[in-house]
Amino acid sequence: MPLAPLYAQHLAALREHADRALAPGGYDHLLIAAGTPPGKFLDDQDYPFVANPHFRHWLPLTDAPGSWVVHTPGAKPKLVFLQPRDYWHVVPAAPEGYWVEHFDIAIVRSAAEALAQLPGGRRAVIAPACPPIEGIEAVNPQAVVDALHWQRSIKSPYELALMREANRRGARAHRAAELAFRAGESEFGIHLAYLAAAGQIDEELPYASIVALNEHGAVLHYTHFDRTPPAESRSFLIDAGASCAGYASDITRTYAAAGHAEFQALIDSVDAAQRGFAGKVRAGQSYAALHLHAHHVLAGVLREHGLIRLSAESAVEAGVTSAFLPHGLGHPIGLQVHDVAGFQQSERGGTIPKPQGHPYLRMTRTLEPGMVVTIEPGLYFIDMLLDELRGRPVAADIDWARVERLRPYGGIRIEDNVVCTGAEPENLTRGAFAALD
Ligand code: GLY
Ligand code: MN
Ligand code: MN
Repeated sequence: MPLAPLYAQHLAALREHADRALAPGGYDHLLIAAGTPPGKFLDDQDYPFVANPHFRHWLPLTDAPGSWVVHTPGAKPKLVFLQPRDYWHVVPAAPEGYWVEHFDIAIVRSAAEALAQLPGGRRAVIAPACPPIEGIEAVNPQAVVDALHWQRSIKSPYELALMREANRRGARAHRAAELAFRAGESEFGIHLAYLAAAGQIDEELPYASIVALNEHGAVLHYTHFDRTPPAESRSFLIDAGASCAGYASDITRTYAAAGHAEFQALIDSVDAAQRGFAGKVRAGQSYAALHLHAHHVLAGVLREHGLIRLSAESAVEAGVTSAFLPHGLGHPIGLQVHDVAGFQQSERGGTIPKPQGHPYLRMTRTLEPGMVVTIEPGLYFIDMLLDELRGRPVAADIDWARVERLRPYGGIRIEDNVVCTGAEPENLTRGAFAALD
């Protein structure tokens, strides 16, 4: 289906949702600032601009610093679009495309002119606080933010179309990265191959790519890029996404070099387990329960591969699996790679607590149709955590010689973006890879 009708539906629903978010506080208008890039300390340079995700929820405009969306119940939405007079920088292009007809657009030349375009009355302002926007009262009323975040958890068909495309771009780039790994490129070389295939520069990606050869796979957020290849590339973990109109994909794959059968077998087991978890992204499934289930299944994988001698139950209970899998199973994804409301209890806020002993889980909600989550189990050989494990009585039930053999491979993570539907889940990432074959 073309984007235009999907966008029209998306916007109509967004307007209704915004009305609902404004009503309890008696607000007349919702004003959403795109924001402006923060400046570097004592410098005339700015950090890269990332538009407020609430602004991007309304329009596919990622390069619009200083612009505003104005929603007034019952009125056509308004875009106050800042096109400064500036011969130093590229000025944001005049709005065009399938969404433009749905807005009254006022083009302004300065921040002050933009403020003059905003309506008076009781205004709920959603704006990044940094740098502060002069002339605007207190921003981000919690009740309105809670309501908007709750609504963002459910993606419209329009949003899913954009996330499908973000996954297609990511999958294409992952393929190029795998080829570069197999050709013996450095982490830096692989990263350049990734960017070229994605057609995006670092600043456009939804997060800093993790391109890790060998032991580097054990650093969960390894964002360094070695410029020279190692003497031998045994393994490759890449966690990298792509953007589409402000929506993210977040994809991880792990590869073994030819001839490294033991590590490949472990990858295959994590991959099979991951597919099983992705298959459980169904309405009514508690995400926290799915995370705990993943610990049990991965304990079975550790046992099957001779790394531990404990039963799966004892391994989870003794915290052994947490040494090999020290992060959560995944998180909501959408306009932000770690999307909002992963713990939210209701439209009115509140928090669903994490299970005890799992502080890094980013999602405790019960899945509903329209939610998109990542499913990203892993197994790692992290020196710091293995050292702690070695000092505990349970160490007697671990095959340390085998751990030592696998340590040079760093770790494994496999990550897909999965849509909860009313029926079978839709795996955006596997679908995108399959389309490349
Ligand atoms: N790439 C960050 C994450 O997987 O959550
Ligand atoms: Mn992720
Ligand atoms: Mn990731």
